[in-house]
Amino acid sequence: TILILDFGSQYSHLITRRCRELNVYAELMPCTQKISQLTWKPKGIILSGSPYSVYDDDAPHVDPDVFTFGVPVLGICYGLQEMASYFGGKVGGSTHREYGHADVEVIKLGNEFQLANKLLDGLGEQFQVWMSHGDQISTAPNGFHVVGKTRTAPFAAIAHESKPFFGIQFHPEVTHTPKGKDIIGRFVLNICECDASWTMESFISKEISRIRELVGETAQVIGAVSGGVDSSVAAKLMHEAIGDRFHAILVDNGVLRMNEAARVKKTLCEDLGVNLQVVDASELFLSRLAGVEDPEQKRKIIGNTFINVFEEEAGRIESRVEEQGRGKIEFLLQGTLYPDVIESISFKGPSATIKTHHNVGGLLKDMKLKLIEPLRELFKDEVRALGRLLSIPSHLVGRHPFPGPGLAIRILGPVSREQVQILQKADNIYIEEIRAAGLYDQIAQAFAVLLPVKAVGVMGDKRTYEQVIALRAVQSEDFMTADWFAFPPAVLRKISSRITNEVAGVNRVTYDISSKPPGTIEWL
Ligand code: XMP
Repeated sequence: TILILDFGSQYSHLITRRCRELNVYAELMPCTQKISQLTWKPKGIILSGSPYSVYDDDAPHVDPDVFTFGVPVLGICYGLQEMASYFGGKVGGSTHREYGHADVEVIKLGNEFQLANKLLDGLGEQFQVWMSHGDQISTAPNGFHVVGKTRTAPFAAIAHESKPFFGIQFHPEVTHTPKGKDIIGRFVLNICECDASWTMESFISKEISRIRELVGETAQVIGAVSGGVDSSVAAKLMHEAIGDRFHAILVDNGVLRMNEAARVKKTLCEDLGVNLQVVDASELFLSRLAGVEDPEQKRKIIGNTFINVFEEEAGRIESRVEEQGRGKIEFLLQGTLYPDVIESISFKGPSATIKTHHNVGGLLKDMKLKLIEPLRELFKDEVRALGRLLSIPSHLVGRHPFPGPGLAIRILGPVSREQVQILQKADNIYIEEIRAAGLYDQIAQAFAVLLPVKAVGVMGDKRTYEQVIALRAVQSEDFMTADWFAFPPAVLRKISSRITNEVAGVNRVTYDISSKPPGTIEWL
């Protein structure tokens, strides 16, 4: 395993990704992590970049034990500068910020420096890299030699003459550095000598044994599923590990997509064998939502009602299994992913709340149950790969995310069963046509929104006065920023025509061309 210490760079998680793509397990921890308090021994340590300058008063600093721990260390950008200042080098603000492509010229040292030459070995005399920094080294640290330079960065890559310490000014983790993965590979495979044995198959068998050991012979596990990728994959994995001792609950909150509860039941329960209870609580949710327009209020109502319904159903399951003498419910499954874990361990603290996002599982923290989070080490696309290996159908594995509060935050006015039905029909047509046009996988998220205004139209010879549907489709890497998707006009024309013809109550369709920022992806 490789330990990556995060100094707050926007690219830190990509270092983790690149290591795992090389089949080497890597874990990201905040830079404040004390090496003496690690519960496992990494085979190498990577120091990430950072938005700080090493001389900032509040700049985060590396635990000096990193350099006496006895494993190889690679500093990237700010990590290089931290390493350089620890070893007595000087870091100066360069005259200009360097941002973008640069060519690194490899400087091969003599044969007595075999170790130092290992990092850039076999990559050619010159290769392209991506730079993004304000500061750079102005004096080499003691015992280090330059192994790569660019036109403006004389210390683009340095290596210690005898110890396995390396630093690079550029970012090997981004795809703009075409040989970046090779460089990380030189470090983790050749220098740290990690085994390239981490694969999704090995993850599954390791995780299944871990779950079996944790849960034991008789304990029962419950968990909420939503029809989304994460909870479905987590549920299937639990089912593989402990069969019917895992009890999945789907709460139909009345604001799911069209036929969603039935669809989830068919896939998870009938096709994949997961022990699933569907609870139709739509009446309760819709009655509590009646007349409410404020989005945060809608979220709160849905969140609280969800907890009530889930706990009640969990109680029913508990009585049943106890009656049958099958043990107690002791665990709660959560589909937490690695980005959530990273967010919560960040040394920078939580970012400002624009919306109170919560997904199904996240609400149940207060239940007196122990947590099982089998996906907490994985990124979204790794969860998708895992899902495919567990034979979850591709239409489910590739699904766009759907918010916990569902259609309630896509109906801009008050929520009623009638408004839900209008939106469900429009949304269903929209997604059907996107799939038919083969565009679904190019879009990160697509959905329809029901506006609380009426517009005049004409149908036959009659004047109509009906509602408006707004369509949203965005491309996004991480949902923090997003751009609207440029549909071929013919696809939009077909969608618009179908919605106005097939959905009673709607006479107008608009397409949202706002990016995020300044818009958000959802309208509420
Ligand atoms: P925004 O609208 O903030 O959305 O740009 C970013 C991503 O978060 C999803 N989202 C939510 N997910 N509960 C959720 O589980 C929520 O309350 C919520 N609000 C927004 C949104 O669908 C998008 O993927």
